[in-house]
Amino acid sequence: MKSKIEILNQKLAEGRSGGGKERIGTQHKKGKLTARERISLLMDPGSFEEIGALVLHRSIDFGMEEQQFYGDGVVTGYGTVNGRLIYVFAQDFTVFGGSLSETHAEKICKVMDLAMKTGAPMLGLNDSGGARIQEGVRSLGGYADIFYRNVLASGVIPQISAIMGPCAGGAVYSPAITDFTLMVENTSYMFVTGPNVVKTVTNEEVSAEELGGASAHSTKSGVTHLTAANDMECIAQLKLLLSYLPQNCEDTTPKISFSPGDETREILENIIPENANQPYDMRAVITGICDEASFFEIHKDFAENIVVGFARLAGRSIGIVANQPIRLAGVLDIKSSRKAARFTRFCDCFNIPLLVLVDVPGFLPGTDQEWHGIITNGAKLLFALSEATVPRVTVITRKAYGGAYDVMNSKHIGADMNFAWPTAEIAVMGARGASEIIFKKEISEAADHAKKLAEKEAAYAEKFATPYLAAERGFIDEVITPKDTRKKLIKAFAMLENKVAVLPKKKHGNIPL
Ligand code: HXC
Repeated sequence: MKSKIEILNQKLAEGRSGGGKERIGTQHKKGKLTARERISLLMDPGSFEEIGALVLHRSIDFGMEEQQFYGDGVVTGYGTVNGRLIYVFAQDFTVFGGSLSETHAEKICKVMDLAMKTGAPMLGLNDSGGARIQEGVRSLGGYADIFYRNVLASGVIPQISAIMGPCAGGAVYSPAITDFTLMVENTSYMFVTGPNVVKTVTNEEVSAEELGGASAHSTKSGVTHLTAANDMECIAQLKLLLSYLPQNCEDTTPKISFSPGDETREILENIIPENANQPYDMRAVITGICDEASFFEIHKDFAENIVVGFARLAGRSIGIVANQPIRLAGVLDIKSSRKAARFTRFCDCFNIPLLVLVDVPGFLPGTDQEWHGIITNGAKLLFALSEATVPRVTVITRKAYGGAYDVMNSKHIGADMNFAWPTAEIAVMGARGASEIIFKKEISEAADHAKKLAEKEAAYAEKFATPYLAAERGFIDEVITPKDTRKKLIKAFAMLENKVAVLPKKKHGNIPL
């Protein structure tokens, strides 16, 4: 048997970047870059410093002592992205399928600890066959060490996971705890149990791609926030995402230079259709308000009835939560409430001011929604916004009906500035529904029911389907013309920049999970 030194020398001679040329070739044939290629694309040129490049696993079972690769299947270290410090681990599928051994986990934990000590974002580039099967519980322990750190780091530093290959079994729970997950189309998948187990347990036939590919998780489960066509696009998205984020929970949001000019935006005048029941794309409002080409949508294909994402206003990052009238009339349902709540909490963790754009007809009715818990799920958004202490500004563009008016960053739940366009309708419900209920008797007794209903509807709409009653009570701070919205928001967020709000002393709240 070769001595350890002999094995090491041999491996050193083979080069230390993973499992050799042949395996790297296989990785490329699958359309994937290697761990080192991914890191060099991510980091500013020459900035990456590797940590633990000479680490070897400690397994002696199943002939593992004969198979040693420097770095043990993961490249870890630090560097800069656009000049800002970032920590990274990139799993190397060419070494034991990127599987996680005890030492592989130790390397990841080491950079996570450094990221926490120095207050910088932690990025994980995942490409792994899961727990190193030859190591048994030592590998499982390694996973748990990472999960525990993910939880402790949550809300302290941004944590981002790119899924760039397999991510299966319990391994999925680290990305799940991190703030954002990106998946590469066709080469990555995530599932707790793969197609074979699914077939055995439920008799369903499903491919890995269908079960846990980028498309499934970006549209059906919402597990991934972003998808990319390939590794290069994925890395580009990571960099873009980072550009909106502070380094840690005590840092302020990045600001890019901005010279004020004429901030009037005529384009906003023509977005709301004449007919209140006609949809329009809320993204047109967002792009009309924000700095040019600055809107970066998150969770774009999931729960499309709400839009969330980052943008810049006068050069400064903001988070946007907006009802989307072109999908289900912008109604709040289980998925959209969860999506918006999680995004709100991320922004609040990291001092990113929130802009909430409202056009909401209410909560989605039906047995499906009630039985799956629209009550607790809708409450998540109510809770998340209520406890957010970052600057919070609302613009009601059209409908703000019922409980959804309260939930969507109303003054009553702590919003700082609430604006409404003249087209805003702030009421318990739409004029027709309201008239049918409160004038039921009068309408039924009328000779012409339809005419009576129309009369009542018009009278109700004139009185209640406006922003003016709310403005009279101070629930709306100002009714503004659409073209002035950007100007008003720039001023409002500047005014709120030094906002300090403290929640009552507690260990932590109990959000209805
Ligand atoms: C050790 C592994 C491995 C693993 C892959 N390899 N997964 N080695 N432990 N978990 C090795 C293979 O033996 C192979 O080595 C090399 O990596 C490449 O794997 P291939 O199978 O040739 O690649 P591919 O065809 O692309 O298939 C990839 C794969 C498959 C789908 C990921 O390897 C696979 O199914 N692996 C096992 C997945 C798994 O069941 N993991 C445990 C999940 S449970 P050679 O030397 O032959 O090239 C889990 C629990 C976590 O992770 C719990 C956390 C709490």
